Amino acid sequence: MDKMVIVGGERLAGDVRISGAKNAALPIMASALLVDGWNAFHNIPDLADIRTIKRLLRSLGVEMEGEETLQVNAGRITNCEASYDLVRTMRASILVLGPLVARMGEARVSLPGGCAIGARPVNLHIKALQELGAEVTLKDGYVEAKASRLKGASIYFDISTVTGTENIMMAATLAEGTTVLNNAAREPEIANLAEVLTGMGARISGAGTDTIVIEGVESLHPVEAAVIPDRIEAGTFLIAAGITGGDVRIVGCNPLHLEALIAKLRDAGMRIDVADDSIRAAGGGTLKSVDVKTLPYPGFPTDLQAQIMALMAVSDGLSIITETVFENRFMHVGEMIRMGADIVIQGKSAVVRGVPKLRGAPVMATDLRASASLILAGLAAEGTTVLSRVYHIDRGYQRIEKKLSALGADIRRVAG
Ligand code: EPZ
Repeated sequence: MDKMVIVGGERLAGDVRISGAKNAALPIMASALLVDGWNAFHNIPDLADIRTIKRLLRSLGVEMEGEETLQVNAGRITNCEASYDLVRTMRASILVLGPLVARMGEARVSLPGGCAIGARPVNLHIKALQELGAEVTLKDGYVEAKASRLKGASIYFDISTVTGTENIMMAATLAEGTTVLNNAAREPEIANLAEVLTGMGARISGAGTDTIVIEGVESLHPVEAAVIPDRIEAGTFLIAAGITGGDVRIVGCNPLHLEALIAKLRDAGMRIDVADDSIRAAGGGTLKSVDVKTLPYPGFPTDLQAQIMALMAVSDGLSIITETVFENRFMHVGEMIRMGADIVIQGKSAVVRGVPKLRGAPVMATDLRASASLILAGLAAEGTTVLSRVYHIDRGYQRIEKKLSALGADIRRVAG
C-alpha cells in the first residue's frame, strides 16, 4: 500500500486549480440510469470513488466513454443488482437504488454497511421509497425494491440526508404525480443534480432549499451538463494555506459554497480575499483558536471538521470542535496526538489546546477526510510524517501530492 512522506515547514505559495466535486459527480453519474441515450458530463474528477461507480454502472449494462468529459448511456440496462463487493467499497453506491426502481421498476442493492465514521444507515432512503409506493424488502443484506410505477407523495426526512434527498429526488422525476421532499438537504451538490435532472426534462423546484417539489414526467432525455467544483477540496487547500503560513490562490472554485469556512478562517486571523471563481488565502503568524460546530449545509461542513482541527492544533488558545452529523468522526484525533497535538474528546466535542509546533511521526489514515487532516498536520510539523493507507485519500482528492508539491510542499508518494 502506498505511503505519503511529508517533510514539514514549507510555506505554500501559488495557484491551485480545484477539480470537480466528488459528491456531485457520483449522483449525477447515477442519474444517467434514468435516461435512454448518451449524456455528456463535464468536469468529472479522476478519483478512486469515480472509478468505483463506473465499475458499478458497467455491471448494470451502462456504456461509458471518456474521463474528464464522460459520455454515459444507460439505454440497455441488463442487470438491476448492485452487488455487495462493489457497494461495500463505496456507500454512495446506494444512489443507484432510486433511479433503477424509477426506470426499471425494480432494484436489488446491497446495504452499504457501516464505515469508519459511523453506522450510516439508509433507513430514510428506504422509508421514502416505500412512501413513493415501492414494495421494499430487506433480505440477505440487500434492499429489494419493486414498483410498476412510483406514485408522487409528500415525504418528510427525519434527518437532513444528502444522498437520501438525491436518491428520492431522482426516483420522483419519473413518478406519477407530484412529490414534495420536506426537510430536504440543502447542499450545493443537490442543486447541481437538480440542474442536471431539469436538463433531462424533469420538473423540479426548490433544490437548495429544505423543500423540493418534483412533478413526475413520463420519460427523460439525455443532457450535456457540468459538475460543480469540489468545495471540500477547496476548503482543504484554504486550510493548507493557513497551517503553513502561506499565500495560496484557490482557482476554479465557488466561494459561495464555502461561506461557513471562510468566516471561521477570518475569525482565526487569516486574510481571505474572494473573487468570482477564486479565493486568495494568506496565513502568517500564529492563528487564533476558534470554536466550530458541524451542521448540515449551509452550516460548517462535517467534511472539513478534521481539517480545521489540524489548524486549531497549532493555533493560539482553546478550540471546541463539535461534530453533530456523524457519531464517530474523531478517528484522526489519536493520530494527531501522536504528532504532539493536545486534544481531549468529551462526548461529541473535541477540546483542542493549540501547541506551538507538531512533530512529524508515522501515522495511519482511517477515512478520507482524516487522511487529509493528517497531511495538513504533516505540512506544519517539524520533521517527517509518513502517512500509511493512502488509498483513503485517493478516494476523494485528485493527486493531492502533485497539487501540494506545485505549491512548494515537500511531499512525495512512496509505493508501499
Ligand atoms: C453525504 O453522505 C456525503 N457523501 C458525505 O461525504 C458527507 O459527509 C455527508 O453527506 C454529510 O454532509 C456523498 O455525498 C457521496 P447523510 P450521506 O445521509 O448522504 C444519518 C465525504 O467525505 N442518516 O447526509 O451518506 C447519517 O447516519 C463523505 O466525501 C440516517 O440515519 O450522509 C448521518 O448521521 C463522507 N439514515 C446523517 O444522517 C439515513 O437513511 C447525515 O447523513 C441516512 C442518513
